[in-house]
Amino acid sequence: MEHTRIKELLKSEEFGKHVIVKGWVKTFRNNQFIAINDGSSLNNIQAVVDFENTDEALLKRVTTGAAVRVEGTLVESLGKGQRVEIKVEELTILGDSDPEKFPLQPKKHSLEFLREIAHLRFRTGTFNAVFKVRNALAFAVHQFFNERDFVYMHTPIITGSDAEGAGEMFKVTTFDFDSIPRNEQGQIDYKEDFFGKATNLTVSGQLEGELAAMALGNIYTFGPTFRAENSNTTRHLAEFWMIEPEMAFYELEDNMDLAEDLLKYVIKYALDHCAEEIDFLKSRLLEEEKSKPQNERAELNLVDKLNFVLANNFERVTYTDAIEILKRSKPNQKKQFKYLIDEWGADLQSEHERYLVEKHFKKPVILIDYPREIKSFYMKQNEPDAQGRHTVRAMDILFPGIGEMVGGSQREENLDKLLARMEEVGIPAEEMDWFLDTRRFGTAPHAGFGLGFERLVLFVTGMTNIRDVIPFPRTPNNAEF
Ligand code: 4AD
Ligand code: MG
Repeated sequence: MEHTRIKELLKSEEFGKHVIVKGWVKTFRNNQFIAINDGSSLNNIQAVVDFENTDEALLKRVTTGAAVRVEGTLVESLGKGQRVEIKVEELTILGDSDPEKFPLQPKKHSLEFLREIAHLRFRTGTFNAVFKVRNALAFAVHQFFNERDFVYMHTPIITGSDAEGAGEMFKVTTFDFDSIPRNEQGQIDYKEDFFGKATNLTVSGQLEGELAAMALGNIYTFGPTFRAENSNTTRHLAEFWMIEPEMAFYELEDNMDLAEDLLKYVIKYALDHCAEEIDFLKSRLLEEEKSKPQNERAELNLVDKLNFVLANNFERVTYTDAIEILKRSKPNQKKQFKYLIDEWGADLQSEHERYLVEKHFKKPVILIDYPREIKSFYMKQNEPDAQGRHTVRAMDILFPGIGEMVGGSQREENLDKLLARMEEVGIPAEEMDWFLDTRRFGTAPHAGFGLGFERLVLFVTGMTNIRDVIPFPRTPNNAEF
């Protein structure tokens, strides 16, 4: 390769060295100073052109966004703000960028505007930083599990089941919508469809993950999952990535310990390996907060917030205790919650989760032992309490500013209890025979959880909208690019 990455040159001490750089023009000042970025660093390298001896027509083509090749000498910079620069000997335009049309001008653009040009937003410092942190977190997830001897399992994207039993699936079919085959009763005849049955995009790899764990011991999945839930919020995507470990012979405590270790490990990895990016994002947030009233500003900056999570144990609380806290809370007493908490059994809304995490405990919280009725069919059932209330061995990990980051549980390993629960919630056992076989042949305690990858990236980057931490977000009414 003939060129050197800008990141390397910015660190270099080899003054006088002949170098070649390729990148995109950020700015061009005084017909002399080109700031070039090649994506390798958040920082640009300055290339200084001898404009008196350079063809004017060529200089005109040095516009924001243009791709250039610069050949010259690495020299110590006299200007402020950079240590090194390039004294240009040869300048080549690799790709022009019409300044009248290029939407990314050297000024601050809103995140909303950048979302509309998501194909170009990678060129901004903010998205460079976000996607490098995303990359580091993904790598750290694999490293964490690899160090612990977990097997990375690829569960299917197309399935015939609904792992969460919530009916939020995207259908997969090759039917011609203008002539869908029907049987004599007038129902859609899926036997005629590609797979000979109704299929959908997976909402979770858990069920297949359980099958693998009940043979290999410890496994994890890390792949895209799909939910057709019509939630237009800053925390929901229709296509998101999920990390789902599943462990044989783990009980709820072990599951909580693993989840807490994983979160701390990957956050530490990002702090250690993306210091420059996280620092940039910290400054970005501080800048953004200047326009907010004092009482709405974060108490901790981004780096301090991440270090705080590393330094403290997550609070472990039962749903029943959380309900008592919420009942007595000021916003509940003063009727400030949109959904008031008046009885045991209520599902927690994000306002309640945020109160517990941000106001009451002021740190990540693991809520356990939820009412059976508000959780999925596969969760292990506790003995009913003294008041006859039924709970399951569920755990949700709630994070400040995010809400639910992790959802998991110990699984119901008892075949009869699982069958009874499936019948209650209307899940046909005959379609799930393969899943039930794990409970028929050598059933054992096991547990697992799902970590929403984009929610993790949100937390670590300090971004506030989930659409800004995945390259091309899919949300209701939006599947651009
Ligand atoms: O709580 P959920 O629905 O749990 C499961 O899918 C289980 N099968 C996981 C398991 O035990 N193996 O989803 C897990 C996590 C949530 O805590 C959240 O972080 C994320 O996935 N998540 C979403 N992230 C973005 N957009 C959505 N629509 C999400 N739905 C869930
Ligand atoms: Mg959940």
